[in-house]
Amino acid sequence: MAKDKVIVITGASSGIGEATAKLLASDGNKMVLAARREEKLQQLVSDINANGGTAIYVLADVSKLEDVKNIAQVAVDEFGRIDVWMNNAGLMPLSEFSHGKVSEWDRTIDVNLKGTLYGFDAALPQMRAQESGQFVNIASISAHVSGVASGPYAASKFGVWAASEALRQEEVKSDSNIRVTVVSPGAIDTELPQHVTDPEQSDAMKGFYGSTAIPADEVARSVQFAINTPENTSINEIVLRPTKQFM
Ligand SMILES: NC(=O)c1ccc[n+]([C@@H]2O[C@H](COP(=O)([O-])OP(=O)(O)OC[C@H]3O[C@@H](n4cnc5c(N)ncnc54)[C@H](OP(=O)(O)O)[C@@H]3O)[C@@H](O)[C@H]2O)c1
Repeated sequence: MAKDKVIVITGASSGIGEATAKLLASDGNKMVLAARREEKLQQLVSDINANGGTAIYVLADVSKLEDVKNIAQVAVDEFGRIDVWMNNAGLMPLSEFSHGKVSEWDRTIDVNLKGTLYGFDAALPQMRAQESGQFVNIASISAHVSGVASGPYAASKFGVWAASEALRQEEVKSDSNIRVTVVSPGAIDTELPQHVTDPEQSDAMKGFYGSTAIPADEVARSVQFAINTPENTSINEIVLRPTKQFM
């Protein structure tokens, strides 16, 4: 079991990020937890530390490069290294293109895709200097399947998948020992569907998630598995769905 790894998680204030933070902290790792909602992060960090774990938080909007670079700086200043960087912050505002929600498309690409690329930029110099490290990039089933109303979201997640594979190959080429893992979940019971503004999609998602979604702890366990394999073994992708989910 990995102990004492320094682990950064973006989007740690709820859902998959929060569940993973709690699980990996309980294993003895040092957690650097980032998001925008300070009260949520304060509560999470205080719960982890009260249970004997080690966690700090950093306020960050991952669509801003300077914020993401600051997360890395705080991690190194506080703990001296970055062993795992989990690009998890994301949103899923589903709607059909004809509804013209262009500002939501912009935000989806800025947070889900560019936020992940900014994570690469922020953490790579430290990981290259250490000659070790691991990126865990949370994509989605929507990195593999596109469809009605999921266009911008799927585009962002296909993009995360594609960028992750390019990064994996670059790190092999440079012999850096840095590992890249994509985790692609199906329906997980989090706040994610609550932010769908399109009424038709919002109703559909409430029904679908209500009947199908599985707990965020299942994703957390996948991440735990991927970071605990020996250094010579790289788990490159985990796809997990509720057993009841068709696509
Ligand atoms: N739930 C699912 O069914 C599912 C399925 C596949 C993939 N995923 C992916 O899993 C990841 C986590 O989502 P979740 O399901 O756990 O949903 P969630 O509960 O809504 O969590 C999203 C997290 O992202 C953070 N976030 C959003 N915008 C941000 C920004 N600009 N800068 C920094 N943090 C930001 C939120 O924190 P703040 O609001 O405090 O900033 C929150 O902590 C996302 O990438 C999502 O696409 C989820």
